[in-house]
Amino acid sequence: MKNILVTGGAGYIGSHTTVELLESGYNVICVDNFSNSSEKVFDVINDLTGKQCTWYNVDVCNIEELNKIVAAHDVNCAVHFAGYKAVGESVEFPLMYYQNNINSTLSLCEVCLKNNVRSIIFSSSATVYGPPQYLPLDEKHSLSATNPYGNCKLFIEQILKDVNVAHPALNIALLRYFNPVGAHGSYRLGERPKGIPNNLMPYICQTALGVRQELRIFGNDYDTIDGTGVRDFIHVVDLAKGHVAAIKKMEADPGCFVYNLGTGNGTSVLELVNTFMEVNGVDVPYVIASRRVGDIAACWANPEAAKEHLGWEAQYTIEDMVRDSWEAQKALGVCT
Ligand code: WQD
Repeated sequence: MKNILVTGGAGYIGSHTTVELLESGYNVICVDNFSNSSEKVFDVINDLTGKQCTWYNVDVCNIEELNKIVAAHDVNCAVHFAGYKAVGESVEFPLMYYQNNINSTLSLCEVCLKNNVRSIIFSSSATVYGPPQYLPLDEKHSLSATNPYGNCKLFIEQILKDVNVAHPALNIALLRYFNPVGAHGSYRLGERPKGIPNNLMPYICQTALGVRQELRIFGNDYDTIDGTGVRDFIHVVDLAKGHVAAIKKMEADPGCFVYNLGTGNGTSVLELVNTFMEVNGVDVPYVIASRRVGDIAACWANPEAAKEHLGWEAQYTIEDMVRDSWEAQKALGVCT
């Protein structure tokens, strides 16, 4: 498996994964419509790796164009990141989410089957577990979703499982990410949300930078170590390496697989904020606000399956994560 198609390759996780793939000796062909990213990312990727990533400004929903690309590059494996990803926006515009995220996946599946692509790796999320019945979350935990973003992840997982049943020659890996943070050690790639960030780490960074006045911590009355929400933050470079491990696994052992990609450690919002301030020597003014609708108290992974079957384990610490997020934020600036 040498030629890897990466959909959404200019995005936060897609760009970091493209770097890891190139550095592992794969040829990478990226497809992105740049709806939430910039083509300049590819100059950075090529510069960092000293390799050439081929890329196309194409929407994955455009089945004819996608088919031409996959056929022309003799793609062996597709890593599917492309999609809308804001929970709140998905509640406001559900049809836009279903239309884009589901159709792009259907289009990708059809093209992969037509061109005998051997594997699809899908960028899923811990959000598919719904409210945890127990912790840590393992892959056997029941599945549910509470918003259209989560529903898309859930439906896409099911679509891919069904495709594998009907077409067992097309291998599937569903990778369920916990909370990705951090940035490439060059600080030339990172997370650059447009406008006001929804997620915690970009909000912390922008507050430290002075772009936001104060961070609102959504709830301090949860049944957790300090009352604030607990999450499994994972460094994006660790996450990216998880994809390389999944590709290698499917080269050796075909099938349909599901793996959590998390560290196995829960960190509270307040712990993260305090660590950020300590490690980086900057102030992050914050206030305690009411709980955010739809949030769960705590969520962290059991990452044993990925460790056992992929030989993959997260390496970066919380200190690494806050340092790299902050350094990249300073270097890259804010996307308005
Ligand atoms: C983390 C914690 C908040 C912002 C979501 C999706 C998931 C994935 C990542 C997306 C919670 C608290 C946050 C703020 C805060 N998908 N918080 N103040 O909700 O765990 O996961 O994003 O791309 O699928 O569900 O991540 O970063 O939004 O929140 O106090 O300004 O930080 O309440 O406890 P979440 P998050």
